[in-house]
Amino acid sequence: MTTAIEEYPTGAAGVTASRAADHLWMHFARQGRHPETPVPVVTRGEGAYIWDNRGRKILDGLSGLFVVQVGHGRRDLAEVAAKQAAELAFFPVWGYTTPVQAELAERVAGLAPGDLNRVFFTTGGGEAVESAWKAAKQYFKLIGKPLKHKVISRAIAYHGTPHGALAITGLPNMKKDFEPVAPGGFRVPNTNIYRHPEFADDPKAFGRWAADRIEEAILFEGPDTVAAVFLEPVQNSGGCFTPPPGYFQRVREICDKYGVLLVSDEVICAFGRLGYYFGAERYGYAPDIITFAKGVTSGYSPLGGMIVRDELMEPFLTGTATFLHGITFAGHPVSSAVALANLDVFERDNLLGNVRSNEDGFRATLEKLSDLPIVGNVRGAGYFYGIELVKDKNTKETFDDDESERLLRGFLSHALFDAGLVCRADDRGDPVIQLAPPLICTQEHFDEIEQILRSVLTEAWTKI
Ligand SMILES: Cc1ncc(COP(=O)(O)O)c(C=O)c1O
Repeated sequence: MTTAIEEYPTGAAGVTASRAADHLWMHFARQGRHPETPVPVVTRGEGAYIWDNRGRKILDGLSGLFVVQVGHGRRDLAEVAAKQAAELAFFPVWGYTTPVQAELAERVAGLAPGDLNRVFFTTGGGEAVESAWKAAKQYFKLIGKPLKHKVISRAIAYHGTPHGALAITGLPNMKKDFEPVAPGGFRVPNTNIYRHPEFADDPKAFGRWAADRIEEAILFEGPDTVAAVFLEPVQNSGGCFTPPPGYFQRVREICDKYGVLLVSDEVICAFGRLGYYFGAERYGYAPDIITFAKGVTSGYSPLGGMIVRDELMEPFLTGTATFLHGITFAGHPVSSAVALANLDVFERDNLLGNVRSNEDGFRATLEKLSDLPIVGNVRGAGYFYGIELVKDKNTKETFDDDESERLLRGFLSHALFDAGLVCRADDRGDPVIQLAPPLICTQEHFDEIEQILRSVLTEAWTKI
């Protein structure tokens, strides 16, 4: 069956949309909405902007999906990919290497904090999280603590969709259709201080309280059974929960006390999102494992991985020990070459410096929206912000499921796109708008984001 083309934009634009409606299974999307609602078709990008199939220019306020750090349409990265594909498109990292894989491993290890010196490549973030859990489990088996296998993560946090990563993900709604997921995942509270007004005047005490919940969970489960704690430097899902002062320092203390590994899931936060190569640097803590993906190539080719401390690696370096885990396309040579070129762009164009010198402006510009009745809280760090939407600013009353459905899916998602802004309207926790623009952005882009949000959120208020 094919879709009647009349319902879609005309010409080539309509063909793509109807092909997608008929044959493309889109991720995390309500497929049943189509063909009634045409699938948005994005055709090209340049810098901070993308164009759709109707020729509309749209500001990419989400870097695709927290990915395109250096901006769209860079020929230099495309040319590096083409050159590597022509020279050697593929060879696996299974007992072999290619020059670019080895060089990238060394370069990433050099950028990573402390003694995180060993890089295991994957093709993306979920596989990186999965790999980190498996590495943690085997590590403890190798050092004679075979019962240590459980993982602790935070409520509402997203860590990916493979069965293991899904067990670490703290979103019950996302798991319910796939239960039982891998056993061994346990949840603790996140650091959403907006929803803990009792700590409003003392964020340090809140950090202590939230970190201590991790100790409590380790004790409940039994320290001999807990392998790792998975935390993002700034938690994406729920809307950019930053760590309160002292939080990660206390978590590190707890992990050391009970011999539990601290995994910093930096699939979003690494590679400049927070103005540093790694979020752990920004918040001054030393993880045992860092997981990364997305920004490492700015999306010009897929890649992910984990970086592991020397001490953790030791038992894997002796005798016949082998991590029986691998992925055909992990560390793909084209992706590795692109990642190296991407990191060159970071240095040449001083992208970390750009984020650090402009982040206050980004915050201040978004905070202007606080005069709108629907804006409850603006929070985040670097180029990574969430705006929580509320029904009542004074009571912080949130929207019920029906209202949230009408507001986010029924109106905001397409209204923002139509008004010229890609961002995320998300209700995995309380409803939020999320922003993560390319790291090349400056004040003019922030102003444009603010103006579009102001007009669309003002209209949204009239529809509640
Ligand atoms: C913190 C975190 N971990 C893991 C993942 C999963 O990454 P991927 O979609 O590349 O599998 C994501 C994706 O957004 C993420 O934000």
